[in-house]
Parts: sequence; structure tokens; C-alpha cells
Amino acid sequence: MSEQDQEKAAKRAQWEEINRAKALARQKHGEEAALAATRPVEVKKQFQAVKGTRDLLPPDTSLWNRVERTAHDVFGTFGFGEIRVPALESTELFARSIGVETDVVSKEMYTFEDRPSDLPHDELKEHPPEYAEKILGSYEQGDLPKTLGNGQVMQELRKLLPECKAASQINFVSDDEQTTREAVKKYNELLVRLAYVTSRISFGEFLSLRPEATASVCRAYIEHNLNQLPQPVKLYYMGPMFRRERPQKGRYRQFYQIGAEVLGGNDAPAIDAEVIEMVMTFFDKLELPGLQLDINSIGHNAPECRPKYVELLRTELRKVQDQLGPDSQRRIETNPLRVLDSKLESEQAIIAKLPHIADHLCDACRTHYADVKSQLQLRGVIYRENWRLVRGLDYYMRTTFEITAKGLGSQNAVCGGGRYDGLVELLGGPPTKGIGFAIGEDRLILSLQDAGKVPARQGRDVYIAWMGEHAYAAAVRTAKVLREAGLSVELPPAEQKFGKALERAVKLDSRYALILGDNEVSEGMFTLKTLADGTQEKYTEPQLLERLTQGDGKL
Ligand code: HAM
Repeated sequence: MSEQDQEKAAKRAQWEEINRAKALARQKHGEEAALAATRPVEVKKQFQAVKGTRDLLPPDTSLWNRVERTAHDVFGTFGFGEIRVPALESTELFARSIGVETDVVSKEMYTFEDRPSDLPHDELKEHPPEYAEKILGSYEQGDLPKTLGNGQVMQELRKLLPECKAASQINFVSDDEQTTREAVKKYNELLVRLAYVTSRISFGEFLSLRPEATASVCRAYIEHNLNQLPQPVKLYYMGPMFRRERPQKGRYRQFYQIGAEVLGGNDAPAIDAEVIEMVMTFFDKLELPGLQLDINSIGHNAPECRPKYVELLRTELRKVQDQLGPDSQRRIETNPLRVLDSKLESEQAIIAKLPHIADHLCDACRTHYADVKSQLQLRGVIYRENWRLVRGLDYYMRTTFEITAKGLGSQNAVCGGGRYDGLVELLGGPPTKGIGFAIGEDRLILSLQDAGKVPARQGRDVYIAWMGEHAYAAAVRTAKVLREAGLSVELPPAEQKFGKALERAVKLDSRYALILGDNEVSEGMFTLKTLADGTQEKYTEPQLLERLTQGDGKL
């Protein structure tokens, strides 16, 4: 090979080497990219509270606590005891009491099927006979609800399973083609039937997060035989409720109610009036501004009372049907009373001309309503009669009431309530009278905040500015003594220069800084600095406690 050819060959070898390296790099890059594509991408997710729910933080929570303490105090003075009911109840409890047609039950409840955890795995559904066998086993062990529907399913499975087993014995070798084809067809049909039958099983009870608590209190009254106690039984509750409504100011998906119920005894109008007096007393104690109490009577369910009025209302509404919006048009047939609730501007003049329920009550309901009003007057409770107040839950009868407050915009109902004789019986208990109310605590708080009733200062009484090992031991001891005396004390966990400590004391809105250095400890004297005016004085420990807890300087 000539020298020239040798040079060419060397160059080619070099190029080949470079190209091989390039190809290798490309392949490696491709593999990495492919790997990256299969790896789950770790996106940092910032979680937020679920839509319609919110965190309540200090200092607002101190206002919530004050409201709740006031409720405990005021309701206690009226002889009410606290009941705590679960947040989860059987869906049917709410469907039966509040009513299937109501907005709350038909669209707003958080409902799920409470499936047992050790059910046959879903993948088994691809093998219907094995799946059906397991389902049958679970049912017999009591893991599946013994409902009527499930009972029927199990009966069918007990019949189908042996048929299926027999049909699966197909003899592909000795049977002729026609016989085999028919056997396969029959087996497939049985598999489809099995799959259909197992799909009808109900795995668990349907549960709902409580949208309100009246139904739960009635359930508890029945469950614990509270009718054996001296009647009436007076109970109050507070806690979160859940409704899947469109969130806006004063309307949340998790909101809080403070409510009370009187169950049993009789339906004396004095009870209705006292319940209303109690809630008004509570609002007065909190100095809730711009209160307006509306009352009404919606009669009762006997043919000569509310049903007669509802029919009359329906007839009148049908005459003006064309002038109403789609919601009201629908309600003419489903629940004409709810048309009176309409806030639609164009419907107001029409509604104003409709017959009033007060003119169509039966004698007993009319007398009851008149007595409730005079009982309210006796108690000095100011009310306004509102013939359009019908309330959105099915269980009400006779007295209904609603209280609105200022500063809430369109969601200004801060309390709603009424009488519900018959509800306990509807839920399987004895005939029982009932009346109660629930306050929307979120709205109550909003109204108080709007009126400037902000919580008391969140600062500290005393900030201990300590420096030095001996001073620290004295600071820990002093903090304990002051906290035992009920003062709020901030004890920094690490030593700080006095300048820094005083800066932080001011930031935390402290009233006093207690200055403790090793010198003070050896002298047995504490320096107390009043942060508002910068003055400072020295005290022995007992003098200090006296200065902070007694006399003029008392916190
Ligand atoms: P309610 O009218 O459905 O009645 O609710 C009572 C109060 O709870 C309302 O006036 C309102 O202040 C508040 N509230 C209702 N929904 C929301 C929401 N999504 N966000 C914020 N606040 C809300 C009842 O619940 C009946 N259980 C009252 C009762 C007790 N009747 C007899 N006993």
C-alpha cells in the first residue's frame, strides 16, 4: 500500500471511530429520554383546601371560641344539655326526614357506598364463576348487607353456579362439531347471566355526611329511648355540616351550625316562643347587629289545613304560569309552597297577589299561631310576620322562623327553624312533638366581624427576655409561676441579645418584657418593662406576681 493509501485508510478509521462514538451517544441519549418518559414526573404539588371548605386560623378562632362559649352559657341557662352526633349517618335518614325532593337531599349531599374492605377483588370479575363463588361466600359470612335485593341475587347465584359448572364440562375430543358449538354457546350465555346477576349486588350501606343535625338528633332520641326521660328533652349541638352548594360569601360546602331541639312533651306555644327567645338572647349577648326575626305558620298536614291551601295555591299559580321562570313553573307541580321562596325580581309582583296561608289554616293551627305571637310579645321578642316564609326542608309544620343579620349580602339568613311534630314518628319512634333551630355559625361570625366585633388582642402578657445560664433557669421557673396565675407568657427557647428580645416582644404585641440577666438573678430582682411607655421597675419575684395579677396593674 502506498503511503497515500495508508494515510487515507488511517483517516477513514478515524472517521469511523468518530461516527461510532456519535451513534453510541445518540443511542444513550435516546434510552435516557425513553426512560425519563416512563418515570413519573415529580411535579411539586401545592395542596389547597377543597373547594367550599376553609381553614379557620387565629386570631379569628378566638372569636369562634367566644361565640361557642356564649352558646354553652346561654343555652345552659335555658336548661339545654349538649348532644354530639356523628358526622356520618345513613343516607336514608336524611332522605326520609328532609325529603327526597328537597335541594339538600336531591343535589347537595356527600354520599358514598360503605363497602366492606375484604370483598372479592374486582379483577375476579373477568372470571364470573369464581367471582360469583366468592360473592356467595362473602354474603354467607355476613360481609355483605342482607338486603332484599341481595337475598334475591344470592338465590339466583345458588341456582346458576351449578348449571355453569356443568356446562363448562365440554368434550372437545369426542363430541361432533355441532354439539361442541352448542355447548360453548350455552356456557357463554350462562357466563353473561352470571356477570349480570353479580352486577346487581349492593355491597354496602349508603352513608352521607350530615347536611344538618335535626334528623340525627331525632334518630338519637329514638335510639337511646330518650322518651323515657322527663319530657321535653332539650338538646343543643354545634359542629360542621356538609352541603355541596355553589360556594360564595356566607355559603360553604363545610359550614358550622349551632342548633337546639326540644323533643317530646306537648306542643304548647310557650315552647315555640321560649326557643325563639333563647336564640334572640344568644344573639343579644353577642351584640349581633341588625337582627330581623320573621315568623310564620305553615299549618299541618290534615286535609282541611295545609294540603287545601297548597291546592288553592297551585290553582292560582297555574293561572299565571306563563309569567313565571322555569324553576317556579316546575315547582307548581312538585312543591308550590317553594314558589313563595323565589327571589326572582320578575316574579315578586305576581307572588304578592297570591293567597296567604294564614287565611287558610285550620282552627287548631290558627289558634296555635295566635298564641305563639302573644307568647313572644309576653317575652318582649320583636318579630315580623312573613307569610312567604316556608323553609326548604320537608319536616316542618306550624311555626317556622328565620333570623337575618346585617353585613351578609344575599346569604343573610343567620338562623332558621321551626316545629316538626311527627318527624320522630316518621323515623320509627313514638309520636313526639319537636321544635328547634340552627344558626349558621360562619354567617354569625361574618356579621360580627362586619360590625367590628373583632377578637381581643392575641398578644402576650409577658415576654421574658433572658440572658445567661442562671437567668434561663430562673426564666423557666418564672414562666411556670406566671402561667399558673393565668398570664400568657412567651419564653424564647434560645438566648437573645436584649435589643433583639425587646424587638420581638413588641412584634408579638406583648404588654411587658421581663428582663432577666445573671445580675438580676444574683440580686434576686426582676426588671419589668412596660412596652407601651418604656418605663421600667424592679421587683422581687413575689412582688412581681402581685404586680401582674392584683391591683391596678392586673392583666
Ligand atoms: P337550614 O335553614 O337549612 O335549617 O340551615 C340553618 C342555617 O344554617 C341557615 O340559616 C344558614 O345560616 C346556615 N347554612 C345553611 N347552609 C349553609 C351553607 N352552605 N353555608 C353556610 N351556612 C349555611 C336547618 O339546617 C335545620 N336543621 C334547622 C332546624 C333545627 N330546624 C329545626 N331544628
